[in-house]
Amino acid sequence: LQDTRRMLHAVYRVGNMDAAIAFYEAALGAKLLRFREVPEDKYSNAFLGYGPETTHFALELTFNYGVDSYDLGTGFGHFGLAVPDVAAAVERVRAAGGTVTREAGPVKGGSTVIAFVKDPTGYAWELIQRAPPAPIRDPVAQVMLRVTDLDASIAYYTQCLGMTLLRRRENEGGRYSLAFLGYGPEEDNCVFELTHNWDKTDASAYPDMLGKGYAQVAISTRDVFKTAAQVRAAGGKVTREPGPVPGIGTKICATTDPDGWKVVFVDEADFGRELE
Ligand code: CO
Repeated sequence: LQDTRRMLHAVYRVGNMDAAIAFYEAALGAKLLRFREVPEDKYSNAFLGYGPETTHFALELTFNYGVDSYDLGTGFGHFGLAVPDVAAAVERVRAAGGTVTREAGPVKGGSTVIAFVKDPTGYAWELIQRAPPAPIRDPVAQVMLRVTDLDASIAYYTQCLGMTLLRRRENEGGRYSLAFLGYGPEEDNCVFELTHNWDKTDASAYPDMLGKGYAQVAISTRDVFKTAAQVRAAGGKVTREPGPVPGIGTKICATTDPDGWKVVFVDEADFGRELE
């Protein structure tokens, strides 16, 4: 299938929209790109990111009126953010009142400097030091999800979503494996980081695995109908038939991976119109 897919945004719920926006701007250096208030349905959406949505990955925050916290479950891992100086980024997080759960320092057995912080709703952010000669093209680097069968997941992300397996790493000591999958090189594109803990091989190992906070990643496609057919042909589950969203008209279809993590394909041209 000839297609030009790109990871567009991650959709998730936050318990306090003002606090979330303030934290993402001050601590993580993101910009508010779009905001919509939908009082008739009692929610608001904010899109934050590091460049135009036509070329950059965005964070789509949903605030449901009156819901001030979410159980994030046990399967969602973190978002990854590439920064030129992790120690400085950690100080910005601290100054903005954020929680630092792992101070800046090299990864175990490696040289890449990382840190972990939490946003006001409790989502973990991995800060990853990247100091390339050119500026970082798009800082939002990873969506990390835990999976129970890495080979099944890799088959789904490559065959059903059409992604490339960019990197796979086995960590004997930590008894876990990582797989990085996406539509382009990790340096330039947000990718999925899938973590498989060797001792956790079925859903019972992760109570409330999917949680109530993180919802999905949206991916662009030229044709949601062909994409849905392809997902099915590759043995994947289509959870929302291809077609227009009532009221908006944007054509979408949805699918879930072997653990139930949701992906929504969005018609590229319709999405472009939404941004106008
Ligand atoms: Co990561």
